[in-house]
Amino acid sequence: MAVAIGFGQSAAFSKALLFLHRSGRRSFTAFSAPYSSSATAASSSSAFSSADKLRSQKWRAPVASVLERGGVKIARDDVVRDEPTNNIPDTIFTKLGQQLHRRNQHPIGILKNAIYDYFDSNYENKFDKFDDLCPIVTVKQNFDDVLVPADHVSRSYNDTYYIDPQTVLRCHTSAHQAELLSMGHKKFLVTGDVYRRDSIDATHYPVFHQMEGVRVFSPNDWELSGQDGTAYAAEDLKKCLEGLARHLFGAVEMRWIDTYFPFTDPSFELEIYFQEKWLEVLGCGVTEQEILKRSGNSNNVAWAFGLGLERLAMVLFDIPDIRLFWSTDERFTSQFSEGQLGVKFKPFSKFPPCYKDMSFWINESFTENNLCEVIRGIAGDLVEEVCLIDDFTNKKGMTSHCYRIAYRSMERSLTDEEINELQWNVREQVESKLKVVLR
Ligand code: PHE
Repeated sequence: MAVAIGFGQSAAFSKALLFLHRSGRRSFTAFSAPYSSSATAASSSSAFSSADKLRSQKWRAPVASVLERGGVKIARDDVVRDEPTNNIPDTIFTKLGQQLHRRNQHPIGILKNAIYDYFDSNYENKFDKFDDLCPIVTVKQNFDDVLVPADHVSRSYNDTYYIDPQTVLRCHTSAHQAELLSMGHKKFLVTGDVYRRDSIDATHYPVFHQMEGVRVFSPNDWELSGQDGTAYAAEDLKKCLEGLARHLFGAVEMRWIDTYFPFTDPSFELEIYFQEKWLEVLGCGVTEQEILKRSGNSNNVAWAFGLGLERLAMVLFDIPDIRLFWSTDERFTSQFSEGQLGVKFKPFSKFPPCYKDMSFWINESFTENNLCEVIRGIAGDLVEEVCLIDDFTNKKGMTSHCYRIAYRSMERSLTDEEINELQWNVREQVESKLKVVLR
């Protein structure tokens, strides 16, 4: 996502906010990773025997047909369909309903609770809290209701998971704003899992968690202040979020950056100075009047914010790789306890990565997100990074890409044999599903 580049903070944290630019154009951060001297050459598929091929069919465990987790019951057939208008793989289906944010001993749940504490102790009338709204929403909820333009890139099949042309896995918690406002809620927090097709590296995962906050004001609130409603809401919003950042991070340096979202005006980003870098932690702004009008709040003014819980948790708990949040390894899960914000994670091991390169001639419909989906579909959480390391166009106008795939388990050493098998499968499926020509 095109957020961070140019503001000086870590490119690694650059994709949590989806809607920063009017056009929503993406810029790739993956191009910049250097060659690693430990890289091994690409395996060629011809090096594999048919026995390897047979074995490679067994790489994935069967997928349950109905998920029942955290009170959410979702049938696989309702989500994953073999139709061109559906782009949801089984790996994503298995994440639905896991609800890391509702586990009080998980870093994401601990962080959610710490933010709840801040709002509970600073506001007499508590914020209404929602943390089990279903992640399957309509295109109308996800985009139209929050005024995302019809041609915005975030609506594309390349960026969003579609169940069918009218139904998506929410790509932000803002998908619930309009509905909750229409129901009459004036102060609320929505926490949930959100889904975005994306590239692969240590800070990007196609499922992550966001918290949305909305507060509605009525004329009484701002009339005595001598400010207009918008200025009053913007000031209140900034005060609220600066307080939250201090509550979570202590006395930190912070700065506000003006930005753009379709659903707020003015819009801001908050950055905090952490470990010698400016880190974007949230997006927010004064809610577009049209949203308030449609929800029966014409005479009101409101603010809204959306923050990414993983990126905050990675910093607060020193968690080096976003895949760890999904780990069921006791050496990870046992390090966190309820109410303990910011306990530093002690890596239990660092297993060596294994690199495999693959080159192919791309076609017009090729996208890096599609490539990453195929790779994740095969290697799951064993893939750590997919990085474009070479890109050229020949005299005939054919473009070749070379990608370096880093395989690494967080939990154990991988054998050469299993990596070769994964890579063999990747090559085969990249060729057949993406219709590219391997070199
Ligand atoms: N929904 C926005 C995103 O995911 C964040 C946001 C929420 C910005 C609310 C402004 C107001 O990028």
